[in-house]
Amino acid sequence: MGDLHLQDLLVFSAKMDFHDHFLYKAGHIILQDKASCLPAYLLNPPVGGHVIDACAAPGNKTSHLAAIMKNKGKLFAFDLDTKRLSTMSTLLLRAGVTCHHLANEDFLKVDPLSQAYKDVEHILLDPSCSGSGMVCLHDNSSEEQDHERLKALAAFQLHCLNHALKFPKLKQLIYSTCSIHSQENEDVVSLCLEKNPDFGLVNLLPEWPERGHDPLTQCLRASPTTTFTHGFFVAMLERQHERQTAPNSQSFTHPSSKSHPSVAEDEQTQVSLDKELQPPAAKKRRKNKKS
Ligand SMILES: C[S@@+](CC[C@H](N)C(=O)[O-])C[C@H]1O[C@@H](n2cnc3c(N)ncnc32)[C@H](O)[C@@H]1O
Repeated sequence: MGDLHLQDLLVFSAKMDFHDHFLYKAGHIILQDKASCLPAYLLNPPVGGHVIDACAAPGNKTSHLAAIMKNKGKLFAFDLDTKRLSTMSTLLLRAGVTCHHLANEDFLKVDPLSQAYKDVEHILLDPSCSGSGMVCLHDNSSEEQDHERLKALAAFQLHCLNHALKFPKLKQLIYSTCSIHSQENEDVVSLCLEKNPDFGLVNLLPEWPERGHDPLTQCLRASPTTTFTHGFFVAMLERQHERQTAPNSQSFTHPSSKSHPSVAEDEQTQVSLDKELQPPAAKKRRKNKKS
């Protein structure tokens, strides 16, 4: 069954386990929580575009971006963590991704004015966060430790966001976290927009039932109770003079004026099926099946 909100996402019963399935083992499908599929889906970069995945490892969103770009163009992916990058390299190889340029580099040190990035129009920024939206994570830290940690994370996230907006040709950027804390979500985006008046928010998926905290209702939130996913946050920033609308969104209509159908798929697993990036053997099998 296709997903109610995201095209290309297949929905299965929670009892279906793909971990031992040959399609998963061979890299033909990527398993991801539905909320984690939102960033690449909403950024929707063009085929052949130049795109940055700023904090990319272990590469789930990078592979999704590559599928949307039909493996054409340039997908620059940065991460600081060598171990996660090595996992990412295997994941991308198995998925048949070839349009990527992996770099073990601090995104904050990447020069936005470098010739290499002069045509970058889309950026996905999914930086380190508290992970407070991950249902499986238990946190035993004290309130004071939490407070200090959140403050440091939010400062880092804001730094990354401000840095990303310095790429001269940038049109649209997706900022996402798997955190439920407004300090890492709406607060970071608000502070960034104050500093960057050339950018505004795109009203994402008006039919999505859970919105960013007021007044940032153009952004999306996700949760186990409302969207049956992990806790998640997504914002799209767009350069104002572009006056263009994200293909999977509507521009600047207030979400409260729309009806929000409830998410019906309780306890379901979503699988993003990557049609374009299947290794040649799988493509051949599909062709043979048709004839
Ligand atoms: C939330 S994870 C990214 C998950 C990834 N987008 C995915 O979907 O598979 C955040 C990543 O940011 C990386 N990171 C942290 N600081 C960074 C920096 N300054 N530059 C680049 N990557 C960084 C971490 O190593 C981590 O892998």
